[in-house]
Amino acid sequence: MPVDTVLHNTKICIRGNLVEAGLAIDKGKIVKIAKDTNLPPASTKINLKGHITLPGIIDSHVHLRDQQLAYKEDFFTGTAAAAAGGVTLVVDMPNNKPVTMDSLSLKERMKLAEKRVLVNVAFNSAFPKKLEEITEVVKAGAVGFKVYLSNRIGGIDVDNDDLLFAAFREAREKGVPVAVHAEDRKILEEQRNEMEKAGRIDTEAYVNAHPPEAEVQSIQRIIQIVKKSGVHVHFCHISSALGLNAILMAKKTGLPVTCEATPHNLLLSSEQYRHSGTFALTDPPLRTREDVSALWSALKHGFINVIASDHAPHSLEEKNVNSVWEAKPGIPGLETTLSLLLTQVNEGRLSLTELVRLTAEEPAKIFHLSARGCLDEGSWADIVVVDMKREHVIDSSVFFSKAKYSPFDGMQVKGKPVKTFVNGLLVMDEGEIVTEPGTGQTVSNRFFLT
Ligand code: NCD
Ligand code: ZN
Ligand code: ZN
Ligand code: ZN
Repeated sequence: MPVDTVLHNTKICIRGNLVEAGLAIDKGKIVKIAKDTNLPPASTKINLKGHITLPGIIDSHVHLRDQQLAYKEDFFTGTAAAAAGGVTLVVDMPNNKPVTMDSLSLKERMKLAEKRVLVNVAFNSAFPKKLEEITEVVKAGAVGFKVYLSNRIGGIDVDNDDLLFAAFREAREKGVPVAVHAEDRKILEEQRNEMEKAGRIDTEAYVNAHPPEAEVQSIQRIIQIVKKSGVHVHFCHISSALGLNAILMAKKTGLPVTCEATPHNLLLSSEQYRHSGTFALTDPPLRTREDVSALWSALKHGFINVIASDHAPHSLEEKNVNSVWEAKPGIPGLETTLSLLLTQVNEGRLSLTELVRLTAEEPAKIFHLSARGCLDEGSWADIVVVDMKREHVIDSSVFFSKAKYSPFDGMQVKGKPVKTFVNGLLVMDEGEIVTEPGTGQTVSNRFFLT
């Protein structure tokens, strides 16, 4: 019996080395990695023309929206954007309408997603009102919980340390991590009031209203709760040198904390606001060049665990407003992340091994996505094929995402995803979507897989 598919004439990044080999795929999984001559017969053979094969990107911070926020993005457009960007699995965030915050809302969201997604989707939930419900949420399939310290989203009062501790302990019990948006709500409120009182409505005022101190304070607060509860906390979109240092200290004492950086915080500084205005507005904001170099230094030392896009799509109407306080913060990133990172590889700032660790291996580990994030025999065939030489200029008007804006617009990049396979099926080929919705799967916490 021939296998379903063989991918040949490619180089595979295996444990830091580019190896000339091919892959055999059957029933959605990689069944063999071998020299082309040793691959089994296949129903479909695809010549990858010498391009590099990497594990599909796992983007662990994505707002797919849909439901009552479908005007910003929906499951189809969001996952088409993912496939176009070489992303094979996204971890969805709970700040939806309705908020994903209990087993009912999660199940409803998963059911809607199932028929519409092109790539795999795993779900974060906010904490439910009743902490006893945490078990049900995990059983329903949540791979993690998300807490916004900047905002009240979900059933828990984020100003109450005792409640957070109880929730974190319960999450730890169930073996799921807690992802944290670390910005202190009160500091943000104070700063914003001051800026508004002074009549400021510009992007600089927004940056001032989100000082690094807000990041540090909430990180330090959460670290105390990690100490007591032992839960794995994953800090989202770390933006400042100060915030980073607080996390590094916790890491040095052996606490179970990991952190993430976004491509925009790694590649842009707050100077970008002069060019992109509210299109570059995001929370936490773009920061100083010193903060950017601190992120890179930490990344090169292996202290950053994950690069995730924080794909946060909004409508143009929500971006094109006079006052920065009315503008919605968030940048769509699914279609730019991989090309931006491959450009860094081409420029020698990042190795392919680092890229694979940051965008596939570590996110799979943190969110316990078993048999994903690596190219091994027995793993799911979630694959991206990249052409390292292909150059293009980023143009948000051709995004599959509904959010047709980007602070990276006009930037020249080198390196492009040319084919994306999800569960063994070709989803994106040369920038086109070539499968029907439903190719992706909803992926659950492995502990509750039946
Ligand atoms: C996110 C959004 O729009 O949902 N916005 C953002 O600026 N990052 C929320 C978030 O991730 O904090
Ligand atoms: Zn956030
Ligand atoms: Zn986000
Ligand atoms: Zn863990």
